[in-house]
Amino acid sequence: MQLDDLNGIAEKHRSSRKKIIVRTCMSAGCMSSQADVIKKNLEAEAKSQGLEADVEVRRVGCMGFCGQGPLVGVDQNGEHGLWEFVKPEDAPAIIAALKGSECKVQRGDPKHPFFAKQMHIVRANGGIIDPERIEDYIAIGGYKALHHALTELKPAQVVEEVTKSGLRGRGGAGFPTGLKWGTVAKSPGAKKYIVCNGDEGDPGAFMDRSVLESDPHIVLEGMAIAAYAVGADQGYLYVRAEYPLAISRLQIAIKQAKQLGLLSAGIFETPFNFNVDIRIGAGAFVCGEETALMASVEGKRGTPRPRPPFPAESGLWGCPTLINNVETFANISAIINRGGDWYAGIGTEKSKGTKVFALTGKIKNNGLIEVPMGIPLRQIIMEMGGGAPDGREVKSVQTGGPSGGCIPADYLDTPVDYESLTKLGSIMGSGGMVVMDDSTNMVEIAKFYMEFCMEESCGKCIPCRAGTVQMFNLLEKITQRKATVRDLAKLEELCDMVKNTSLCGLGQTAPNPVLSTLKFFRKEYEELLQPDPFGPHSNGAAKSTELATK
Ligand SMILES: Cc1cc2nc3c(=O)[nH]c(=O)nc-3n(C[C@H](O)[C@H](O)[C@H](O)COP(=O)(O)O)c2cc1C
Ligand code: SF4
Repeated sequence: MQLDDLNGIAEKHRSSRKKIIVRTCMSAGCMSSQADVIKKNLEAEAKSQGLEADVEVRRVGCMGFCGQGPLVGVDQNGEHGLWEFVKPEDAPAIIAALKGSECKVQRGDPKHPFFAKQMHIVRANGGIIDPERIEDYIAIGGYKALHHALTELKPAQVVEEVTKSGLRGRGGAGFPTGLKWGTVAKSPGAKKYIVCNGDEGDPGAFMDRSVLESDPHIVLEGMAIAAYAVGADQGYLYVRAEYPLAISRLQIAIKQAKQLGLLSAGIFETPFNFNVDIRIGAGAFVCGEETALMASVEGKRGTPRPRPPFPAESGLWGCPTLINNVETFANISAIINRGGDWYAGIGTEKSKGTKVFALTGKIKNNGLIEVPMGIPLRQIIMEMGGGAPDGREVKSVQTGGPSGGCIPADYLDTPVDYESLTKLGSIMGSGGMVVMDDSTNMVEIAKFYMEFCMEESCGKCIPCRAGTVQMFNLLEKITQRKATVRDLAKLEELCDMVKNTSLCGLGQTAPNPVLSTLKFFRKEYEELLQPDPFGPHSNGAAKSTELATK
């Protein structure tokens, strides 16, 4: 395979396209509402209404507006239409609307505010290409970045470009990607590995699943470029077993890339070799932590180990290993194609590029969005999301999952960047964004996340194993109105202890939802307390109880 061959595939594929494209979302959300039947019916209708020669009914990945699914997009005469809440029996009407020259849309608005402020880099092809046909990816310029890197850049230049872009890891911690790549590249060792972290265990998060289901090649291409940059020849894609569609699309993508010589030996007729294998995780949250994940890939029990040594120096089987998140890898081809400076021009001073969020909870428009870093939370929640449904007010936004925190509505003008969210006691995390309305009890929310951490704790170290249980019990006591001010003090003490003494990020961040709700919604805790007959603070507690019973 050479550049001419790649261009030839792209050209042949483009010229074989029909006049009208009917895009049927076939990612997990829409598939659970009969998207496969919808697609079959659309194909049958196109035939029976005599439009078979003009209409391509295409399987595509996630279009983002998941709350309105199943979705069908229409591209006709340069216009784009969107059908929402499609049922299999809607196929005749959708096909009939294609007759004539206009793109007639009966339900849905592709210019809806949900889409207006979005900027797509990672999700550029989601909902547009068929994720099961490599030709679709090649036709929109896929694998050109890999070709450019292999034939025109030295590995150090690739690292430099990624460093220049300012890209930070999208798995949660926001570590500078170029710095990590440079460390692996410099680590001595004949054998190096690439790992793509697709564990995605945060409740409410489905960004990585969607990218893998909608555009698997963008991740494979990013991994291959990374492998060239750091000197690796083997990659592992770690995906949880709960993501069967993502796994099957990745299997298809790897097979097709190998058949075309875009993976395995002598890629683009250069000496560069790179293979990717999939490793299926059993769905433990802790296996998203990089050292636990690597233990799991090695076939061991997935528990974290102390760092250093960091994976960049000693990872899989003791070899230097580059581990990045799905979304991090999905940014790479655009950075190589358009340059690090272009990427660094998007976002804020310290948070560059875009971020994908799963916008869920008590919000009118839920789904998957990609926005430039620095956008105020208000624009996401109130404009794109449309605010809370049923005439209620937005009370808080939870970002960062079990490791994150709850940001009150008063702070909705905060820009979405790593530093601003951390300053508020939350984190960017991997992209879960759960909106709560004014009917939500924040102590219950803190208890929900603590229960999650307690159940997902691997038990290796005592502060987390025992501390999450004790913190959960105290939260339960508070919600049952049996706790006193002393219990609240004990809860705060435990938060401090578990945060500072746990072995891995799970324990170190498990207290965050409690700490942030205590910071901003302390009154809700105090209102649930009982008077402490023996304690020095009994007056305060009695006052709080009085308030609670009003
Ligand atoms: C408990 C726990 C769970 C994690 N889960 C994930 C995950 O599902 N996906 C992910 O990419 N990173 C996860 N991480 C972060 C990884 O350890 C690691 O930092 C990340 O994969 C590095 O990639 P990045 O630099 O591209 O963000 C988790 C960390 C902890 C402590
Ligand atoms: S902090 Fe929790 S999850 Fe991490 S090693 Fe300790 S017990 Fe396991």
